[in-house]
Amino acid sequence: MFSRYKKNDAAPAKGNQPAEGKVTELPRKKPEGEAASAPPPASMRKPAQQVAARSATADKDQKRKERMAELKLELHRELLENLNLAALDTATEQDLRSEINEITNEVLNQKAVVLNREDRAQLNKELYFEVKGLGPLETLLQDDSVNDILVNGPQQIFVERSGKLELTDITFKDEKHLMRIIDKIVSAVGRRVDESNPYVDARLQDGSRFNAMVPPIAVDGSLVSIRKFKKDKLGIDDLVRFGAFSEEMAAYLQAAVACRLNVIVSGGTGSGKTTTLNALSSFIDNSERILTIEDTAELQLQQTHVGRMESRPPNVEGKGEVSPRDCLKNALRMRPDRIIVGETRGEEVIDMLQAMNTGHDGSMTTIHANNARDGISRLENMIAMAGIEMPLKAVRSQIASAVNLIVQASRLQDGSRRMTSITEITGMEGDVISMQEVFRFQRVGLTPDNKIIGHFTATGVRSHFSERFRLWGYDLPPSIFEPTLAAE
Ligand SMILES: Nc1ncnc2c1ncn2[C@@H]1O[C@H](COP(=O)(O)OP(=O)(O)OP(=O)(O)O)[C@@H](O)[C@H]1O
Ligand SMILES: [Mg+2]
Repeated sequence: MFSRYKKNDAAPAKGNQPAEGKVTELPRKKPEGEAASAPPPASMRKPAQQVAARSATADKDQKRKERMAELKLELHRELLENLNLAALDTATEQDLRSEINEITNEVLNQKAVVLNREDRAQLNKELYFEVKGLGPLETLLQDDSVNDILVNGPQQIFVERSGKLELTDITFKDEKHLMRIIDKIVSAVGRRVDESNPYVDARLQDGSRFNAMVPPIAVDGSLVSIRKFKKDKLGIDDLVRFGAFSEEMAAYLQAAVACRLNVIVSGGTGSGKTTTLNALSSFIDNSERILTIEDTAELQLQQTHVGRMESRPPNVEGKGEVSPRDCLKNALRMRPDRIIVGETRGEEVIDMLQAMNTGHDGSMTTIHANNARDGISRLENMIAMAGIEMPLKAVRSQIASAVNLIVQASRLQDGSRRMTSITEITGMEGDVISMQEVFRFQRVGLTPDNKIIGHFTATGVRSHFSERFRLWGYDLPPSIFEPTLAAE
């Protein structure tokens, strides 16, 4: 019996008496050649028979899945009743796995259920994930090809792979099961989620970004979104190799970051803003002191001298909030050479622009916008919403002198993520902020399988910052700014 991690005072679990003399076997696929009276091979059967056979197999598979889910739940309940959860923290993975194995065997025997080896191994694995991990989500968290996990109620889990959404066949048993996993995640970070506090943002232990919203606000069951944390962030070389931007653009961006231009990465949701910001930060000199401010710490800077801050939402009583703006105000007193704000979306914009204007040039942030011009409007709106009463012209000239470069990241319809434009802010013309696009992604068409055909090109304009690049020792060859023709 599972001695080591068993609660001493555990009452004997109810309901697991052997069903007298009755052996239940889960419906399962018969191994080849198992039964002499097996039906003839599919090819020899009539079409109607084939369809019926197919639906019968699907039916059996469905029943088998349901029975497995029930069994897992029963076993899990029993595990929780019997395991000494405090001792689990110190248990090694191997110990726990073998203990779970023992419990499964014991309970299956008691219930007189026969499982084949494969199903048994699968059951053990899932139980381990239920006890130690995040249940059904664990397999997806461990799958490196998955970027995002999106749960729409207990029966529907989508994942994003290579920029495309796919429905998985993984499900939760019911809403209660899903809620238990959500609770496990949020209670681990000292938060709570329930009817009166129906949404939460948190960071998983591995650094993944987690957001959940529970009923009644989420109408058809809890909604969960996870942006998985990549241990190996995509660097500039990877992004160039994946076709996210060209080598010429990389050379230009290196000069721009090294020469301390203020950069804003703009893009839609999931377009690769944080990834781009992280990659750009690799051009910062190792001698500089960098402070980062994020809602969920996602950036992974390579430099030695980095101070990381994470803002904090208010607690259940509405107290204890530390906003990005608070962090930013503090950061300015901490002698930073550069400040990187993960995303500017509220009143912190004021302090960000001020920082960019007053000696912390070379700072960077991201905003949600569809192109450079929209990005500027977004900044103007954020300033207005922060309650700053300033004539529009003054707001614009503040933006124009703070921001030097807007890098646009986009997720295109084929799922690819690309830097679709690099735009320089050149100043003011009357009441309008003037800007010039230096590089862009030129789309030329679609392949038959809906992949986008296109190429990166310079627009032919000379960089507004050429002189600055030269003075700082980054003499970019003029060929970088020459338009590229489409490859034949
Ligand atoms: N060029 C790229 N090629 C392939 N994958 C990419 C590329 N850029 C980003 N990704 C992946 O896409 C996912 C989303 O990227 P990222 O977190 O940078 O987007 P984001 O715009 O910051 O999203 P959000 O708006 O949710 O903050 C990540 O898993 C990242 O690894
Ligand atoms: Mg992001």
